Amino acid sequence: MRIGILGAGRMADALGTQWTRAGHELMISGRDPERTAARARRIGPPTRVGTWAEAARFGDVVLLAVRDTAVPEVLSAAGADDGALRGRVLVDCVNAVHSGFVLATAGGPSMAERVARQAVGARVVKAFNHCHEDVWRMTPPAFDGTPLAVPMCGDDPDALATVATLVRDLGCTPVEAGPLDRAGLLEATTAFLIALWHSGVDARTLLPPLTHAFGPR
Ligand SMILES: NC(=O)c1ccc[n+]([C@@H]2O[C@H](COP(=O)([O-])OP(=O)(O)OC[C@H]3O[C@@H](n4cnc5c(N)ncnc54)[C@H](OP(=O)(O)O)[C@@H]3O)[C@@H](O)[C@H]2O)c1
Repeated sequence: MRIGILGAGRMADALGTQWTRAGHELMISGRDPERTAARARRIGPPTRVGTWAEAARFGDVVLLAVRDTAVPEVLSAAGADDGALRGRVLVDCVNAVHSGFVLATAGGPSMAERVARQAVGARVVKAFNHCHEDVWRMTPPAFDGTPLAVPMCGDDPDALATVATLVRDLGCTPVEAGPLDRAGLLEATTAFLIALWHSGVDARTLLPPLTHAFGPR
């Protein structure tokens, strides 16, 4: 499929490299033409470079991968307010986690809901936000022989199916985690996890296996 990426940073690199290897066509966009071109070369041919608007138009799927504070400006430049992303699958991997592991969107709409409000008609799916870029670079991201599960929140079944394909292309297992109004929980969970990981806690030790989720039966 054709994937436009709004952003030319580390997530564009990590996910873009995997998707290029899987045979998808990419166009990336960034604010600095030289840095963006260098990133495209690193991801590998035939990664194209375009403006925000060109990358939005290029993709059947568009990955939003910029810093949270830049989201409104970048979506506007991509033409999202005017419907440039209408009907497109818009994957939001943005974490609005600021210094002190503060979730900047707490108490208001989630980042994914803000994105959906601004990107008129886009079919937004929250995904790929819960792990570090270097996890997404793994081939495959799997631990103890089990592929990493990737939660996806979205309202459109076809969009979720499309993102599930992109998840499988990484060697991961897609998990439908509810509609877009659950994305805020995923965003908050990620902020919680990041703080734990930074303090040296293995978050996996917090959880019982599914067989014991409701106690021994
Ligand atoms: N890195 C991770 O491990 C990770 C994991 C999960 C989710 N995420 C989320 O993914 C998103 C991208 O992260 P990243 O690590 O790829 O970030 P990054 O390496 O800093 O790249 C961000 C991209 O956004 C651009 N950008 C930054 N500020 C901008 C502005 N004011 N206007 C226009 N463009 C701007 C950057 O351009 P310049 O190159 O010119 O600065 C770059 O192209 C973030 O929302 C982050 O929370 C990151």
